[in-house]
Amino acid sequence: TPERKVAILGAAGGIGQPLALLMKINPLVSSLSLFDIAGTPGVAADVSHINSPALVKGFMGDDQLGEALEGSDVVIIPAGVPRKPGMTRDDLFNINAGIVKGLCTAIAKHCPNALVNMISNPVNSTVPIAAEVFKKAGTYDEKKLFGVTTLDVVRAKTFYAGKAGLPVSEVNVPVVGGHAGITILPLFSQATPASNSLSQEDIVALTKRTQDGGTEVVEAKAGKGSATLSMAYAGAVFADACLKGLNGVPDVVECSYVQSTVTELPFFASKVRLGKNGVEEVLGLGELNDFEKQGLENLKGELKSSIEKGIKFAHGN
Ligand code: APR
Repeated sequence: TPERKVAILGAAGGIGQPLALLMKINPLVSSLSLFDIAGTPGVAADVSHINSPALVKGFMGDDQLGEALEGSDVVIIPAGVPRKPGMTRDDLFNINAGIVKGLCTAIAKHCPNALVNMISNPVNSTVPIAAEVFKKAGTYDEKKLFGVTTLDVVRAKTFYAGKAGLPVSEVNVPVVGGHAGITILPLFSQATPASNSLSQEDIVALTKRTQDGGTEVVEAKAGKGSATLSMAYAGAVFADACLKGLNGVPDVVECSYVQSTVTELPFFASKVRLGKNGVEEVLGLGELNDFEKQGLENLKGELKSSIEKGIKFAHGN
């Protein structure tokens, strides 16, 4: 297999640390670059002792960002501040938007061909920000920019399997739209294996639980942050899919928030086929039932304004 370098920006954080662990034990990774504004020497030393092949290096502070990024195939971005109770993902906007803008400017300069996996919230807006930064730098490739929505899929699978009494590792559920509240639209009518034991009431409850999954964790953590372990797991699943695509593994399909013509919105999450250049094909929505059609109409307004907010931020600052 080819040598692959993965960089994590925000690697000393609540998501970054377990993500560093999971990428260190991924056999497709030969070099792992851990960047943060503080704390990376310790995380890198710790993770580097694990006896898997990936060579781990820690980088700290803006002076070392370029070196951290140089030669990266995949850059994963969980840098930012997490949600506290009472905050929506949008409340994070101003802080995280600025962080993402700075990091993407450096990516455009040091590894313009890397696949970018955006985790920093609000993803509905930070992905459009990244696109604008890359456009301005002249490096934008819509096939290489992804908002990581895998945690929504992970949650939908877990909740669906639990409710339907199906083996969770065999279950799949597409989740489309965006990555916040009602913009998250799980398509349980396309879940596999299909279940005939779920009522419409169950589907409504499963949909709501998937949409509110982030808030469920924020409230349970009671002021100590948002999802970190499950998010790191989801981030590692998605990065692994990106690496498999780059390496030419056939038929790698994951849901992701990408530039899209599936709806009239310029960015939209749906199933995406991953290949040697990133996005190989953005797959359509398939057949929706009436409940899902309604959910799709309901999410468009919010998703549209989150996208516009990101674009406006990127131009204004
Ligand atoms: N460059 C690199 N790292 C940064 C920067 C920056 N400019 N600014 C902040 N960080 C780092 C912090 O130093 C910290 O180590 O990002 C990390 C964030 O970690 P936590 O505060 O623990 O937050 P976490 O729970 O990991 O969430 C981070 O991901 O899902 C999203 O909503 C979540 O936006 C939030 C982000």
